[in-house]
Amino acid sequence: MSVLKIDSSARLEGSNSRTLTQYLVDRLGETVVERDLAKQSLPIISAEDLIDLHASSDNSRASLQHHLALSNSLIDELMATDNIVFGVPMYNFGVPAVLKQWIDYICRAGITFKYGENGPLGLTGIKRAFIVTSSGGVPIGSDMDYASRYLEHICRFIGVEKVVHIDASGSKGTPEFIIAQAKQEIDTALSGSLEQVVLGGV
Ligand SMILES: Cc1cc2nc3c(=O)[nH]c(=O)nc-3n(C[C@H](O)[C@H](O)[C@H](O)COP(=O)(O)O)c2cc1C
Repeated sequence: MSVLKIDSSARLEGSNSRTLTQYLVDRLGETVVERDLAKQSLPIISAEDLIDLHASSDNSRASLQHHLALSNSLIDELMATDNIVFGVPMYNFGVPAVLKQWIDYICRAGITFKYGENGPLGLTGIKRAFIVTSSGGVPIGSDMDYASRYLEHICRFIGVEKVVHIDASGSKGTPEFIIAQAKQEIDTALSGSLEQVVLGGV
């Protein structure tokens, strides 16, 4: 089993989501590939390149070829993993822009998803995604949470089989308490007694 850890908090120190993604991968004890989208952000994609990238166009434009090569390597990294661990700080009710950029790079028609007779079909076959969502005050799973629900949708869209939510919302209290509670959620999830923590139900 392999693990891809994707962090996106702008806080390189004192970040709840980073503390918890590290705890999670340590607990999983598998080979970990780390992608830090805050330390190494992805290039912005121009309007015309975005459209062609999404459709996997064979246009030979140099800028498109550059984005396609990067997209291919990010998708290779994704396809090679069984588990993804996402650290997702809620920014303005959604996911960090750097994480949205990664999503735009890896959602490619015919590669990570396709449209079939019954609608979209995910093609990655990844076994599990853990979504560790931290916030200042917005409860995870609430109507104002456009971060964890959105990322779950993307995971399902690209064919992730199971999604496990870890709640590190600020509504729970002090950072110490948030982290202690979230670690308990991780322990429970990994003990096998909890396959999918229902959004907002923890
Ligand atoms: C730019 C920015 C926007 C934020 N927007 C929200 C928000 O919409 N709702 C919320 O509850 N907290 C918000 N916060 C607080 C963070 O979600 C919170 O500090 C969280 O712990 C950050 O994750 P981290 O500890 O992994 O860095 C925001 C913080 C920043 C820096």
